[in-house]
Amino acid sequence: MKCLVTGCAGFIGSHLAEALIEEGHSVRGIDSLTDYYSLSIKEANLEVLLNNPNFDFHREDILSCDIEALLDGVEAVFHLAAQPGVRASWGKTFDIYVDANIRTTQRLLEAALEAQPRFVFASSSSVYGDTDRIPMREGDPTRPRSPYGVTKLAAEHLCALYHSNFGLHTVSLRYFTVFGPRQRPDMAIHRFLLSVLDGSEVPLFGDGSQTRDFTYVEDIVRGTVLAASSGNTGGVYNLGGANKISVAQLIDIITQVAERSPKFVEKELQAGDVRATLADTNSALNDLGWSPKYSIEDGLRKEFEWLRKCLERGIIGKK
Ligand code: UGA
Repeated sequence: MKCLVTGCAGFIGSHLAEALIEEGHSVRGIDSLTDYYSLSIKEANLEVLLNNPNFDFHREDILSCDIEALLDGVEAVFHLAAQPGVRASWGKTFDIYVDANIRTTQRLLEAALEAQPRFVFASSSSVYGDTDRIPMREGDPTRPRSPYGVTKLAAEHLCALYHSNFGLHTVSLRYFTVFGPRQRPDMAIHRFLLSVLDGSEVPLFGDGSQTRDFTYVEDIVRGTVLAASSGNTGGVYNLGGANKISVAQLIDIITQVAERSPKFVEKELQAGDVRATLADTNSALNDLGWSPKYSIEDGLRKEFEWLRKCLERGIIGKK
């Protein structure tokens, strides 16, 4: 199958593109290599892919590229390109979120009408917002707490509209706080592990009682691949790791795995952060045949090892 992976130089996109090629598919990847975080990390993410004859890379922006050519011959679109970051989405940067998360999705969906590929959209647990209904179910109310969550929810709605109006085979996947090798440098686990390794100070937002359903990247990739061939079209599925771990507990686990504690500076809870996330994954199990496999400890070890190697190679810390 010919696949398109948007955001192929990113944390999850690069793993997904590699997995698809390993399964025998060919992958066209697009990424504009924005400077949200260090280019050296994104270039390292692409290293394996660029050496593979079944991968063809387009360094372009989805909003300005030749979209018909991009989708030509593509049977499955995996739309992971996005402006990420919950806490950074306030203020003037909001325009970037609207462009990267809403307008790109609409442009891809519109172009997909011609070829009618399967269209898998990477959404986010942040569409739920703060809720007492834990675990979160796909049919629960969505009240995002961050502008980022609003843009992801808008993109989900666009996918549903193109399905209901034009029969496009869309599936939206709500990823829950993904971690593992290549995790973005603005995310908690990356920052905490880096602090253990290089002694840098890291902010601890709030009292550490907020909980997250941390989900290992390999589980997310497996669920995303499954969504291209199973599940209800027009549907939405949670992909979560079945972990209800507070940030304080996470710090304890990191201290055990890394045999040292991160160095913290206490900061106020950030606007946009939710108190808790936890996925109900019954629909993903029933319709996609998916359930998470990785424990937090095993995943953390893998991310720690990756980070250590990046530091040795001088990949982390460069702009
Ligand atoms: C993550 C991703 O960054 C989003 O892109 C994604 O959409 C979202 O998960 C999701 O599940 O939908 P978040 O849950 O905020 O967002 O993940 P982390 O950045 O790893 O933060 C986890 C917790 O650690 C938060 O409560 C945060 O306030 C805290 N944290 C984070 C710190 O205390 N210090 C830091 O330096 C970073």
